[in-house]
Formats: sequence, C-alpha cells, structure tokens
Amino acid sequence: MTTNRDQMDRLAAMRAESRLGGGVERIEQQHARGKLTARERLELLLDDGSFVEFDPFVTHRATDFGLGEQRILGDGVVTGHGTIDGRLAFVFSQDFTVFGGSLSETHAEKICKVMDLAMKVGAPIIGLNDSGGARIQEGVVSLGGYADIFLRNTRASGVVPQLSLVMGPCAGGAVYSPAITDITIMVEGTSYMFVTGPDVVRAVTHEDVDRERLGGAVTHTTVSGVAHLAADDEPSAIAMARRVLGYLPQNNLSDPPRSPTADPPGRMDAALDSLIPDEPSQPYDMHDVITRIVDDGEFLEIQPGWAANVLVGFGRFDGRSTGIIAQQPAVLAGALDIDASDKAARFVRMCDAFNVPLLTLVDVPGFLPGVTQEHGGIIRHGAKLLYAYAEATVPKVTVITRKAYGGAYDVMSSRHIGGDVNLAWPTARIAVMGVEGAVNIVFRDRIAKATDPDAERVKLNAEYEEQFAHPYIAAARGFVDDVILPSETRPRVISALTMLDGKRERNPAKKHGNIPL
Ligand code: HXC
Repeated sequence: MTTNRDQMDRLAAMRAESRLGGGVERIEQQHARGKLTARERLELLLDDGSFVEFDPFVTHRATDFGLGEQRILGDGVVTGHGTIDGRLAFVFSQDFTVFGGSLSETHAEKICKVMDLAMKVGAPIIGLNDSGGARIQEGVVSLGGYADIFLRNTRASGVVPQLSLVMGPCAGGAVYSPAITDITIMVEGTSYMFVTGPDVVRAVTHEDVDRERLGGAVTHTTVSGVAHLAADDEPSAIAMARRVLGYLPQNNLSDPPRSPTADPPGRMDAALDSLIPDEPSQPYDMHDVITRIVDDGEFLEIQPGWAANVLVGFGRFDGRSTGIIAQQPAVLAGALDIDASDKAARFVRMCDAFNVPLLTLVDVPGFLPGVTQEHGGIIRHGAKLLYAYAEATVPKVTVITRKAYGGAYDVMSSRHIGGDVNLAWPTARIAVMGVEGAVNIVFRDRIAKATDPDAERVKLNAEYEEQFAHPYIAAARGFVDDVILPSETRPRVISALTMLDGKRERNPAKKHGNIPL
C-alpha cells in the first residue's frame, strides 16, 4: 500500500527532478557557454524567495522521432510569478538544457497561462528567451503554439508592460514575440536574433556572415534597432530589466511608482546658462542638459547606440517617472532622420500607453535632407513621430533649447499638436529654416545683383538673425508659454508636471487609428 509518506516523498522527488531540467551534464554545458540556467536567471530577476512556480510537472505530448520516451518535467520552460522591488510580475524562462529550450505545444501552453494571468490581474510579463525555436518533432503544433503567444503579446501590448530578455538563440519566427514587446534586452556574445541564420543567408544571398554580425546584441542595438539595450553579461541584463520596470506602472490603468528623492525640486543649475555655444552650428552634448535637470542626475537611456541623433529614455522629476525625448546636436546636428523618427515615435507611444508623462528637449535643424532619406521614406517615418506626439494624451512638456526649424518644430511636441506646456530658452531659434538657407532662397536675386555679394549676404544674414533667430515671435503668439533661463529648467519642468498631474484628455472614440507604419 502506498502511504501518505510515500506520496510526500514522490512529490519531493518529482520537484527535485523538475528543478534539474535537462540534467547535471547539460547544466554544466550551459555554464561552460557562459550562460546561466533558466532558474538561476529567475533568482536574479525576482525578489529573494518571491518566485511561485506553475506547471513544474507538465510534459510534452509528442510521440514522433522517439520523443515519447524522453519526457522531461516542466518541458523546457519555467513559468510563474514573483515580485520585483515588491511589485508583482509574471515570468517565463526558457530552459536550454531541455531539448534546446525548443517550444512545444505544452511549453507554449505554460507561457500562455502566465500571460493570461498577467492580463487578468494587470501585471508586467517578463520573458527570458533561450530557445532553438519551434520543436522540430512537433511540427505545426509548435508553430501554432508560437502564434498563440504572438496573439497574447499583441493583446497585452499597451495593457501591461512586456519585457523580453534574449539570453541565447532566438531564431525564425520566434523573434516576433520579443519584437512585439515593449523592451528587448540582449546579452553580448551569447544571444542572437535572426529570421534566418548564417547558413540560409549564405545559400540564398551568398553573403558570408557569422551569427554575431548577423544578429548579435551589438548589431541589434547599433544597426537594426531591433533591441533596446545590450548588456555585457546576464546579471547586468537582468539588472537592466529590473531598472526599466521601476519607471513603468503595473498596467495601463495605473500610474508609474513615485520614487522618493532628496534632490530638491527647486534646484537651479547655473552651468546650464553657459552650455549652449554662441555659434549656432557648434554642437553640445544634450546628455549634459538631461543629467543636470533630472533627479539625482539619473537618466536610463533606451537605445543609446542606435539613431543617436535623438535621445530617448527615462528620468524622474521630483520622483515622477518621465519619458525624455531630446535631440542630440552632437550627432548629425540633431536632425531627424528615418531611424530617429522610428525610435522616438515608438518611445512616445510606450510612454503614452503606460501613463508616463513626456518631456521633449528640442534642438532640431529639421528633417535630414537627401536622396537616401527621401527614397527610404522619411515622409512616412517622420509622420510616425508626428502622429505619436499628436495622439499622446499624457502630460507633454516641451523645452526648446536652440533650433526648432521647419516641420520639425511642429513635430517635436509643439503647442499646435497638443504640447501642454511649451517653454523656450533665450537661445531658442524658432523659424522656418536656418539663416543661410532662408537668405539664399528669399534674397537669391538681390545677392546675385549686389556689387559685393558676400557683403550683401552677411548683411542679410544679420537682418534675418535679428528678426527670426529668437523665441520672442513664438512667445508673442503664445506658442511658447514662457522664455526661461536655462538654469531654471528643472523647477519649471517640475512645476509643469505637477500642474498637469490631473490631466484628463481622450482622443475621439475609434477602433484604432491608422498610424503610417
Ligand atoms: C528540437 C532542438 C531544437 C529544436 C535544438 N534542439 N533545437 N530540438 N527542436 N528546434 C536540441 C538539439 O537536438 C540538442 O539536443 C539540444 O537541443 C541542444 O542543441 P545543440 O544543437 O546541441 O546546441 P547548440 O550547438 O548550442 O546549437 C543551438 C542551436 C541549434 C543553434 C539553437 O540547436 C539549432 O540550430 N537548432 C535549430 C534551430 C532552428 O532552426 N529552429 C527552428 C527555427 S524556425 P540533444 O539531445 O542532442 O542535446 C522556428 C519557427 C518559429 O522556430 C515559427 C514561429 C512562427
């Protein structure tokens, strides 16, 4: 007869077996590759002792190719919930030691179960991806499992924050789950994402490329923009994920957590008054502005290595999580190009979906001219950013530090597209275009006919500067609410965000808009 004691022992044995995944040897192989196991990663991600596991005894249902005999408890993914800084989060962590972390029908069902729960209770989902893709032995059933996850990723988009950590292979259609989520973090040297691997690329296009260059962390955070952050190692990647979550709310119906700070809201910074060079074409580093105005100088930059002519990331003002979008005059003079437009637009939409107010720092000479940009669809891509700002209903505060020229003035959270508080530094230049371009167009004939064309040009440039290269026409119209000293920026931004705390705005009811994708 089986005693109760036997049953307890059986449970203990099954738990131990499940915790071992693919076994000691494969765990050692995982470590030898410089990778942690699925469970070790969860230990780092979640608060100590908070992890509650679901479905540790699930096994696959496949019988093909001899898989019937090889049932492994948990079936290659560890799922459940825990807390991160005391806040509930749902997790799934693929276990490469079990059939290469490949996705079977039951593996997918486990992931879908935690995703469904996350949606029901309104909590973030964090996926740790390390997988050989669709489990080959299961064929279409596995493909269906992926699609079940993609559907949930899409439905959860804008409802609960979704983070993907890519910590190993992520190939084929499997890449589309991270691609739909809000933030993707990769690990340098051990993770890669691609639709088809180097062998297929070689066969189809005759290009010789290795995994790292095709789809490693550096490639996706500097060339393609597919991933948002790259970390040197897994613990750093996990720490990044925890930090990102600290700026986001649990769901679209709640606000991001306020974080206490000792940094005074009224703190002024005199160094800002001399930051802008006298020569308008001379660059400066917009990071200096951001780190001088946010709480404790802390700026969590997102996608720092891609489209660096625009900076996006999170900071706090008097403890309030804020999404910051800023031109970077030190790269491409801060011009908006295709990638910068895409990067900023997606960030604006993420913040808007999750009730994170926006601060926009403007120093933009315009959209980047050129055949490559036009043929690449700068019109369509620039329109995304315009649309994203115009559609965003969160508090929007804008500070023009220097140039706000042409269409880019309109796009960068201007009053006209719904900016709530628009401020300018005395160094702001708000005009249809820069001085040389404007004078050349308006006075081309006059310059050509002048006895001394160069002297005439200099004179006209000075006249144009006097008339247009300042913020006071916009201020006279009320398009900017005030012209402020740069040193006053932090207190003025905080006062604006505080005033806007209760902002209630809704877009017209519709199924959804048709953002130019
Ligand atoms: C079943 C798999 C598997 C898979 C790996 N394994 N991938 N089993 N289905 N997709 C198993 C291996 O047989 C092996 O089992 C163990 O996992 C570890 O794999 P290795 O090859 O020994 O590891 P490594 O050398 O590190 O190579 C990892 C790898 C490679 C690069 C991921 O395994 C690989 O190329 N796998 C196939 C990748 C792939 O093409 N997947 C399909 C992508 S298309 P044993 O028992 O020998 O240890 C796709 C479609 C998704 O996923 C569609 C969604 C819409």
